Amino acid sequence: MLRRLHPDQPESFAFTPANQAWAELQLTKYPEGRQASAVIPLLWRAQEQEGWLTRPAIEHIGDMLGMAHIRVLEVATFYFMFQLQPVGSVAHVQVCGTTSCMICGAEDLIGVCREKIAAQPHQLSADGKFSWEEVECLGACSNAPMAQIGKDYYEDLTAERLGEIIDELAAGQVPVPGPQNGRYAAEPLSGLTSLTEYESGRTQYNASVQLAVDLGDTVKRIDGTEAALRAPWLGDSAPASAKPAQASARKPARKPAAKPAGKPGKPKRPRALKAARKSGADDLKLIKGVGPKLEKLLNKLGFFHFDQIAKWTSDEVNWVDENLEGFKGRVSRDNWVEQARTLADGGETEFSKRAKY
Ligand code: FES
Repeated sequence: MLRRLHPDQPESFAFTPANQAWAELQLTKYPEGRQASAVIPLLWRAQEQEGWLTRPAIEHIGDMLGMAHIRVLEVATFYFMFQLQPVGSVAHVQVCGTTSCMICGAEDLIGVCREKIAAQPHQLSADGKFSWEEVECLGACSNAPMAQIGKDYYEDLTAERLGEIIDELAAGQVPVPGPQNGRYAAEPLSGLTSLTEYESGRTQYNASVQLAVDLGDTVKRIDGTEAALRAPWLGDSAPASAKPAQASARKPARKPAAKPAGKPGKPKRPRALKAARKSGADDLKLIKGVGPKLEKLLNKLGFFHFDQIAKWTSDEVNWVDENLEGFKGRVSRDNWVEQARTLADGGETEFSKRAKY
């Protein structure tokens, strides 16, 4: 399936304040310079907030993580869990079409979606409330056929029951997820034949359905106010009352590693320029590890050209490493000086070849 950005895009994207706080806290899970590891959780939160991934959201996350936009787009287009087009304002219905579900009636469920929502997958219904798609096995094969709606599974479906569920959702209700034929979980329809002692004292619904009912957020968009921020990886087991940019939340998860013995100690500011030379600034993004945000930061510090970076001494590297707010340690991590020497001499690095392509 061809996955590309939707032709109609909003002007901008911003996380809600609470989601922004959550996103910034995620960055502290990773050592300095490895914040790109947070790309999937952040994309997912953006989708939870908006329903789908817009281009401005992808770019915003790239900027937050110091990643080239194309790198974030690669992730967003690779994983089918990311929706690249608007989804229904009430719910997006994902019908499993894999073997167990298919032989148990998935095609009838898809027929209901075509009839009640839209003729084609990923199309909005006429009222904009619903969209649907066929997906691969969702791992609930013993409750086939099934569909995921919002965050929860609706299992043991019939075409008739799926139609009712869609109607109920359209009327503002949220039907109880889980098996729709009276089964508690995945036991035989005629009842338990073993482990019957566990029948007494169980919750009204099976564990995941009970949680879904308790949370009540099956089709809710997530704005970040649902749960208190917590950061156990920072040694904070109590709910963080912190605001997004609070220093404690930004504290790196680990202490910075000690400097290797023999590494020159005193950071020295390299010579900087007030502006790029008349010939124009070099594309510093051709250096592996430099994204648009870092390029701007470098320009702000007075570095516009490969030959400037190529001349940095180890003391100067130390200074730049320490002054790249939010990206400390990148210069030495990715060996910018050696890359810049090659590029300044008119050569190519493996990375610059790929980046140009
Ligand atoms: S085949 Fe549908 S959930 Fe596995």
